[in-house]
Amino acid sequence: MAGKYYLGLDSGTTGTTALVMDQDWNVAGRGYKELTQRYPHPGWVEHDAMEIWDSVLYAVSEACRKAGINATQLRCIGIDNQGETVVLWDKTTGIPVYNAIVWQDRRTAKYADSITEKYGNMVREKTGLMIDAYFSATKIRWIIDNVPGVREKIKEKKILAGTLDTWLIWKLTHGQVFVTDVTTASRTMLMNIHTGQWDQDILDALDIDKSMLAEICDSSHIYGKTDPLDFFGTEIPISGSAVDQQAALFGQACYKPGAIKCTYGTGCFMLMNTGDKPIYSRNGILTTVAWGLNGKMTFALDGGVYVTGAATQWLRDGLKIIDNADQTEAMAVAAGNNGDVYFVPAFSGLAAPHWDSYARGTIIGITGGTTREQIVRACLEATAYQVKDNLDVMKLDANIPITAMRVDGGAVANGFLMQFQADILGIPVDIAAVHDTTPLGAAYLAALAIGDFHDLDEIQAKWKLERSYEPKMSVDERETLLYKWHKAVERSKNWAED
Ligand code: G3P
Repeated sequence: MAGKYYLGLDSGTTGTTALVMDQDWNVAGRGYKELTQRYPHPGWVEHDAMEIWDSVLYAVSEACRKAGINATQLRCIGIDNQGETVVLWDKTTGIPVYNAIVWQDRRTAKYADSITEKYGNMVREKTGLMIDAYFSATKIRWIIDNVPGVREKIKEKKILAGTLDTWLIWKLTHGQVFVTDVTTASRTMLMNIHTGQWDQDILDALDIDKSMLAEICDSSHIYGKTDPLDFFGTEIPISGSAVDQQAALFGQACYKPGAIKCTYGTGCFMLMNTGDKPIYSRNGILTTVAWGLNGKMTFALDGGVYVTGAATQWLRDGLKIIDNADQTEAMAVAAGNNGDVYFVPAFSGLAAPHWDSYARGTIIGITGGTTREQIVRACLEATAYQVKDNLDVMKLDANIPITAMRVDGGAVANGFLMQFQADILGIPVDIAAVHDTTPLGAAYLAALAIGDFHDLDEIQAKWKLERSYEPKMSVDERETLLYKWHKAVERSKNWAED
């Protein structure tokens, strides 16, 4: 009997979430497994790809257990992944040749700089991206150049390279299916967004062999079935895949041009649907693929902030001035104001719209009277300012009025942050009823492919508002705060030497 439950699998940076939804799209069970973050050198960030695979099995079994079902009752699986993070593995043994290099990793910043003059314009025109260490391409190059024996094995066609969607689908199908979706491929800096295919000119420029790369498919597509040997003894169609940010845009039902969402996680990622044509930013925002459906791509503008939730984590684990993230709301309120303290959490440089790989974290305005509460408040405020900087340039680029922003992710539970965000943006901030919009979007993509939805309108009808925050701050106050914030950002720039 075909199953009645949908599985959304979110392979994120801090952890793996599995969400089981019943046939009415209510959350029936949730499983989660945190991932070990590996920092072998300053600016380097790695994950163990085998640990990611194990975390998937753990999270799925937890979600099914809590839903009171077994995996045979699943109808289909949608996967979303952390994007640019890349792993290379031996096709025969299935063993990674090196840890997955995570999107935050800056080890290739110098290499990226060194090829920008020659290839920057071509790459931007073809991929919608600027050459940066953020994307998978330079990370693949680094593994080829630095891991002994890999170059030789590539010549023998023994190596596969993939983003985490590719890795997980390969693992789920016992090495039978080697695919990626068009959104994830668009984040490698190797895919031509006009054709939806790997671009030979860029592959040649970076000396990357196309035979290592997966077939690019739509985001809603039956890629294959799980192998019972590897997935709880059952064959379930894997039929949705997207980058986590694009999955959240889909889960937030942002299907019309101008619709915008922001996900608050490790970082903060704002995407705006721009319709069926790519819009090129004049202001440092990325052009990306929102999803591929029925062979057609929808595009988005993408303003990503690397560090938001990760800064709160640092307050907890690094600075040790809080015990948990839940405390920050009450502390920020207790502070009353930021005491003129500004915290630019540029731990791994600044992304859009500043793009400074060498910026580093800065806390400025500290006096003898500065309190713990004010530092915590400055940390939360920084999230809102960074989102505002991105929204402003997106509005200029797209020339589309924005009347509200849909939000999701863990930090939407922080009432102080959400109110401050609405105040700083000057537009309402709408929280979706399902906070796990990312795996929800992946599951929607999967359900669409197997025909359980007929069109996007049917999915749109499922979106529910939990709560809206209206802006209350005066324009003067907002402008004053933003003026100081921008001064602080300038101070954080161009600090690290490599
Ligand atoms: O570009 C990186 C982004 O997609 C990662 O998102 O939720 O795993 O921090 P998240």
